[in-house]
Amino acid sequence: MGSSLLGKCLPGNWDTPSRHPLILRAGLVLAHNRGMSEPQEPSHALFMARALALARAHLGETSPNPSVGAVLVKDGRIIAEGWHRAAGMPHAEIEALAQAGPEARGATLYVTLEPCNHHGRTPPCAQAIIEAGVARVFYATPDPNPVAQGGAQRLAQAGVEVHRGPGEAEAREINRFFFHHVRTGRPYVIAKFAASLDGKIATSTGESQWITGPQARAQGHALRAQVDAILVGAGTVRADNPRLTARRSDGSLYPHQPLRVVLDSRGRLPLDARLFQPQLPGHTLVATTAAMPPARHRRLQALGVETLVLPADTSGRVAIPALLEALGQRGVLSLLVEGGGEVLGSFFDQGMVQEVWAFLAPMIIGGEQAPGPVRGRGAATLARATRLTRLKLQLLGQDWWVQGKVETSPQGDASNK
Ligand SMILES: NC(=O)c1ccc[n+]([C@@H]2O[C@H](COP(=O)([O-])OP(=O)(O)OC[C@H]3O[C@@H](n4cnc5c(N)ncnc54)[C@H](OP(=O)(O)O)[C@@H]3O)[C@@H](O)[C@H]2O)c1
Repeated sequence: MGSSLLGKCLPGNWDTPSRHPLILRAGLVLAHNRGMSEPQEPSHALFMARALALARAHLGETSPNPSVGAVLVKDGRIIAEGWHRAAGMPHAEIEALAQAGPEARGATLYVTLEPCNHHGRTPPCAQAIIEAGVARVFYATPDPNPVAQGGAQRLAQAGVEVHRGPGEAEAREINRFFFHHVRTGRPYVIAKFAASLDGKIATSTGESQWITGPQARAQGHALRAQVDAILVGAGTVRADNPRLTARRSDGSLYPHQPLRVVLDSRGRLPLDARLFQPQLPGHTLVATTAAMPPARHRRLQALGVETLVLPADTSGRVAIPALLEALGQRGVLSLLVEGGGEVLGSFFDQGMVQEVWAFLAPMIIGGEQAPGPVRGRGAATLARATRLTRLKLQLLGQDWWVQGKVETSPQGDASNK
């Protein structure tokens, strides 16, 4: 593999070019020491780690498709790499095969998702792998999509040696939005908030900008750039007048801007809200009910804002399950709910959250009137509280970033099982 390939290494767990040769060397050393033409078991994990790093580095670029990485290995060396660049573009395996050319014959392919077996926007990868003469395939996880699955079987039938794993857990984590959407038809929901240590998201007078520091906010923006849609309630629009764009620390926009969704059941938000400004990049959607007057629909549409009429819940507000169904149907795989407390309360009360990102600032706000991050009904008993698992804790500047997956919710939905 030449330096041009090294130069293509992109961020991920194995992110820097200096780490990349480690993978190559590990494979070479093992192959050489044992006098074998193929690396032994530990190299499989290393080569798959490289494929996973490629997939991770391109998160947010492929929706509604999964993010997939692939490496081709021959004689213990990476001879080609590929990743899926965008929906409609060649899959990761095809990119790697094209780069390797005739060298692919007899090589081993490491790919983070089972090669597809169907004619979608691109031809089946399993067939291309067979035609290229690849000898072995390691895929991290089966494809959950019933339309595309069956690639492993087809490869095996053609005489290719096929292995499931290693790297299944990480592969599923990288594409958790995709897996959830295939299983439920709804977007994967991440609830995000910034709070003081005493659990307040604003002061008693409504001031909330900024509770956390620049590093925590940058992390929040990076997440915005990876999700398909971002949602707030009418209360947050009134209080903070956000733009909900995904911005880097220098103020520049990320290339991917998520769909902005605002819950406004009756169409009472001011038309001069920043969210409705026609020059904003991307697209804004107002989720509402039949209570929104027709004239308001016309005014919003004239501003380039889409309105979506959904059933109302018993309080006359937008019904969250109907909203998730509608977003899922239009190909939204991931939804970042940024608040405020009433909206997050609705999502938690109905067991509609899969993951939580909390940023906790070393500050005490206090005050009975200062709001907390999650309102709604809440849990009447601790046994019915939403519990998180697989926690990650990281200090960002002065703030703690706490991430966790929802294990159980008041509705008893074990969302991440
Ligand atoms: N620190 C943070 O991370 C953070 C983030 C966001 C917001 N905030 C703060 O949170 C405060 C605003 O929160 P909030 O609780 O007052 O308002 P909110 O949750 O932003 O919005 C609530 C409103 O959304 C509408 N809505 C429509 N369907 C709904 C549903 N199914 N469930 C809930 N709401 C629905 C309702 O208004 P209609 O009936 O008119 O439709 C409702 O009153 C502000 O102080 C803001 O600064 C803090």
